[in-house]
Amino acid sequence: MVKKIEWSDKFMLGIPEIDMQHRSLVNSLNKLVEKYDTNPGEIKEILDFFVDYVLLHFETEEALMEKYAYPDMDEHVKEHRAFTKDLNRLMDDFIMLGPSPEMERRIEKGLVSWIENHIMNVDKKMGKYLKEKMGS
Ligand SMILES: [Fe+2]
Repeated sequence: MVKKIEWSDKFMLGIPEIDMQHRSLVNSLNKLVEKYDTNPGEIKEILDFFVDYVLLHFETEEALMEKYAYPDMDEHVKEHRAFTKDLNRLMDDFIMLGPSPEMERRIEKGLVSWIENHIMNVDKKMGKYLKEKMGS
Protein backbone atom coordinates (compact mmCIF):
# COMPACT_ATOMS: atom_id res chain seq x y z
CA MET A 1 0.00 0.00 0.00
CA VAL A 2 1.28 3.41 -0.97
CA LYS A 3 0.93 6.10 1.66
CA LYS A 4 -1.48 8.90 0.77
CA ILE A 5 -0.98 12.57 1.55
CA GLU A 6 -3.21 13.82 4.30
CA TRP A 7 -4.10 17.38 3.40
CA SER A 8 -3.67 19.90 6.19
CA ASP A 9 -3.09 23.60 6.72
CA LYS A 10 0.63 22.95 6.91
CA PHE A 11 0.61 22.89 3.10
CA MET A 12 -0.98 26.33 2.75
CA LEU A 13 1.03 29.14 1.22
CA GLY A 14 -1.63 31.78 1.76
CA ILE A 15 -1.97 32.36 -1.96
CA PRO A 16 -5.49 31.16 -2.85
CA GLU A 17 -4.84 30.28 -6.48
CA ILE A 18 -1.85 28.09 -5.66
CA ASP A 19 -3.37 26.59 -2.52
CA MET A 20 -6.46 25.55 -4.44
CA GLN A 21 -4.36 23.91 -7.13
CA HIS A 22 -2.18 22.15 -4.58
CA ARG A 23 -5.28 20.78 -2.96
CA SER A 24 -6.58 19.45 -6.28
CA LEU A 25 -3.17 18.05 -7.08
CA VAL A 26 -3.01 16.17 -3.78
CA ASN A 27 -6.59 14.93 -4.25
CA SER A 28 -5.84 13.64 -7.69
CA LEU A 29 -2.64 11.98 -6.50
CA ASN A 30 -4.53 10.32 -3.63
CA LYS A 31 -7.10 9.01 -6.10
CA LEU A 32 -4.28 7.64 -8.19
CA VAL A 33 -2.75 5.89 -5.19
CA GLU A 34 -6.12 4.50 -4.13
CA LYS A 35 -6.77 3.16 -7.60
CA TYR A 36 -3.29 1.72 -7.79
CA ASP A 37 -3.89 -0.20 -4.57
CA THR A 38 -7.29 -1.55 -5.56
CA ASN A 39 -7.23 -1.78 -9.35
CA PRO A 40 -3.74 -1.03 -10.65
CA GLY A 41 -4.61 -1.91 -14.25
CA GLU A 42 -6.99 1.04 -14.38
CA ILE A 43 -4.90 3.99 -13.32
CA LYS A 44 -4.22 5.22 -16.84
CA GLU A 45 -7.09 7.72 -16.89
CA ILE A 46 -6.25 9.24 -13.51
CA LEU A 47 -2.59 9.31 -14.44
CA ASP A 48 -3.48 11.24 -17.63
CA PHE A 49 -5.45 13.76 -15.63
CA PHE A 50 -2.65 14.07 -13.08
CA VAL A 51 -0.03 14.69 -15.77
CA ASP A 52 -2.15 17.45 -17.36
CA TYR A 53 -2.91 19.03 -14.02
CA VAL A 54 0.75 19.04 -13.00
CA LEU A 55 1.64 20.92 -16.19
CA LEU A 56 -1.12 23.47 -15.67
CA HIS A 57 -0.08 23.95 -12.07
CA PHE A 58 3.62 24.40 -12.86
CA GLU A 59 2.67 26.98 -15.49
CA THR A 60 0.66 28.90 -12.90
CA GLU A 61 3.54 28.94 -10.43
CA GLU A 62 6.09 29.84 -13.06
CA ALA A 63 3.97 32.72 -14.38
CA LEU A 64 3.75 34.15 -10.86
CA MET A 65 7.48 33.73 -10.26
CA GLU A 66 8.17 35.50 -13.52
CA LYS A 67 5.68 38.28 -12.85
CA TYR A 68 7.16 39.04 -9.44
CA ALA A 69 10.80 38.43 -10.46
CA TYR A 70 11.43 35.64 -7.97
CA PRO A 71 15.22 35.39 -7.56
CA ASP A 72 15.27 31.59 -7.15
CA MET A 73 13.08 30.95 -10.15
CA ASP A 74 15.71 29.05 -12.18
CA GLU A 75 16.30 26.54 -9.44
CA HIS A 76 12.58 26.10 -8.87
CA VAL A 77 11.84 25.62 -12.56
CA LYS A 78 14.65 23.04 -12.75
CA GLU A 79 12.84 20.98 -10.11
CA HIS A 80 9.59 21.23 -12.08
CA ARG A 81 11.32 20.07 -15.26
CA ALA A 82 13.03 17.14 -13.56
CA PHE A 83 9.73 16.04 -12.03
CA THR A 84 7.89 16.35 -15.36
CA LYS A 85 10.56 14.21 -17.01
CA ASP A 86 10.31 11.52 -14.31
CA LEU A 87 6.54 11.61 -14.48
CA ASN A 88 6.52 11.10 -18.24
CA ARG A 89 8.98 8.24 -17.91
CA LEU A 90 6.83 6.66 -15.21
CA MET A 91 3.77 7.02 -17.42
CA ASP A 92 5.54 5.38 -20.40
CA ASP A 93 6.86 2.55 -18.25
CA PHE A 94 3.46 1.99 -16.74
CA ILE A 95 1.86 1.73 -20.17
CA MET A 96 4.52 -0.73 -21.31
CA LEU A 97 5.06 -2.79 -18.18
CA GLY A 98 1.98 -2.33 -15.98
CA PRO A 99 1.92 -2.52 -12.19
CA SER A 100 4.86 -3.97 -10.27
CA PRO A 101 6.52 -3.55 -6.87
CA GLU A 102 9.07 -1.32 -8.62
CA MET A 103 6.27 0.84 -10.00
CA GLU A 104 4.74 1.07 -6.54
CA ARG A 105 8.07 2.29 -5.17
CA ARG A 106 8.33 4.89 -7.91
CA ILE A 107 4.82 6.17 -7.18
CA GLU A 108 5.65 6.37 -3.50
CA LYS A 109 9.05 8.04 -3.79
CA GLY A 110 8.85 9.78 -7.14
CA LEU A 111 5.32 11.14 -6.89
CA VAL A 112 3.90 11.17 -3.37
CA SER A 113 7.05 12.04 -1.42
CA TRP A 114 8.23 14.43 -4.09
CA ILE A 115 4.99 16.44 -4.11
CA GLU A 116 4.90 16.56 -0.33
CA ASN A 117 8.52 17.71 -0.05
CA HIS A 118 8.26 20.13 -2.92
CA ILE A 119 5.25 21.92 -1.45
CA MET A 120 6.69 21.95 2.05
CA ASN A 121 10.11 23.30 1.06
CA VAL A 122 10.45 24.73 -2.42
CA ASP A 123 6.90 26.10 -2.82
CA LYS A 124 6.74 27.41 0.73
CA LYS A 125 9.89 29.42 0.14
CA MET A 126 8.46 30.81 -3.10
CA GLY A 127 5.12 31.51 -1.41
CA LYS A 128 6.75 33.59 1.29
CA TYR A 129 8.38 35.80 -1.32
CA LEU A 130 5.29 36.07 -3.54
CA LYS A 131 3.00 36.92 -0.68
CA GLU A 132 5.21 39.81 0.33
CA LYS A 133 5.41 41.09 -3.23
CA MET A 134 1.70 40.70 -3.86
CA GLY A 135 0.83 42.55 -0.72
CA SER A 136 3.08 45.49 -1.47
FE1 LIG B 1 6.58 24.37 -7.40
